[in-house]
Amino acid sequence: MRHLLGVADLGGAEGIEEVMRLTDSFVEVSERAIPRVPALRGKTVAWLFYEDSTRTRLSFETAAKRLSADTMNFSVSSSSVKKGESLRDTARTIEAMGIDAIVVRHASAGAPHRIATWVDAAVVNAGDGWHEHPTQALLDIYTLRQRLGSLEGRHIAIVGDIKHSRVARSDVWAFTAMGARVTLVAPPTLLPPSLEGWPVTVSQDLDSVLSTVDAVYLLRMQHERMTEALLPSLREYTACFGLTNQRVELLRDDAWVMHPGPMNRGVEIAADVADLPRSLILDQVRNGVAVRMAVLYLLLGAGSDLVPPPATPKEDSVV
Ligand code: NCD
Repeated sequence: MRHLLGVADLGGAEGIEEVMRLTDSFVEVSERAIPRVPALRGKTVAWLFYEDSTRTRLSFETAAKRLSADTMNFSVSSSSVKKGESLRDTARTIEAMGIDAIVVRHASAGAPHRIATWVDAAVVNAGDGWHEHPTQALLDIYTLRQRLGSLEGRHIAIVGDIKHSRVARSDVWAFTAMGARVTLVAPPTLLPPSLEGWPVTVSQDLDSVLSTVDAVYLLRMQHERMTEALLPSLREYTACFGLTNQRVELLRDDAWVMHPGPMNRGVEIAADVADLPRSLILDQVRNGVAVRMAVLYLLLGAGSDLVPPPATPKEDSVV
């Protein structure tokens, strides 16, 4: 894999399995007293985030540091982008300083793909518009496998603003590649204009779907991407499609609740439901670091010692 721009770059179930195996090793590293290995020592990873982010950015940054890579932080709001510098010039300027990978988040679908044609560095898509968010899909699969074992034959419902969700697009391809069945539940106005070619079933009836799923995956209403009024009101949305305290009772005892964050408690998910023992929302965040370590290692670390035994505190302080 030269870049990770979308789920297709992972090479199907086999490629995803490889990331899962590597992630197991990095989960082990993350649990050590000193959660750091020298795998990417001497490599530099830069962030190019044109859109807001809490989890994804901190997660990539932590992942790179735990692999001993150097990091270059680029903040669009205080950069020459504000003076009109183009995406191409910005990417090439950063590369000229000597970097091995760029992690990109951008409001336009395809921006990371364009960057990949302009630079030699490996490019990782950390979310491009409505299009894809492949590392989110990987951490979602890892989190589900911790609870379900395999995804083969499992049923997952993705509920809410599918239309504007890059998470939904990456998850659909990744979950089905691993053998799961996916049902999208949303009002017609929050579904993509065409679902041709999507390996999913669609429902408008959340209540009847809930009792049949192994996991329900809620999405935020992505108002920043809506150019027209797509809902009569948020209250009505919650009444029909929110995972309310009453509705969560329809889930089987062994079914799980997920959300990529940021949550709007009280809209797509009731405040209490997000904190139930069956909620995997913080597991998703936790696993995100190890998954991103695996991705950066696959792109940059081939040949280096993967996970050497824990360093003694004295050795590590020299690093
Ligand atoms: C999502 C994103 O930015 O695509 N968040 C994330 O990365 N965990 C989902 C969202 O913004 O609703």
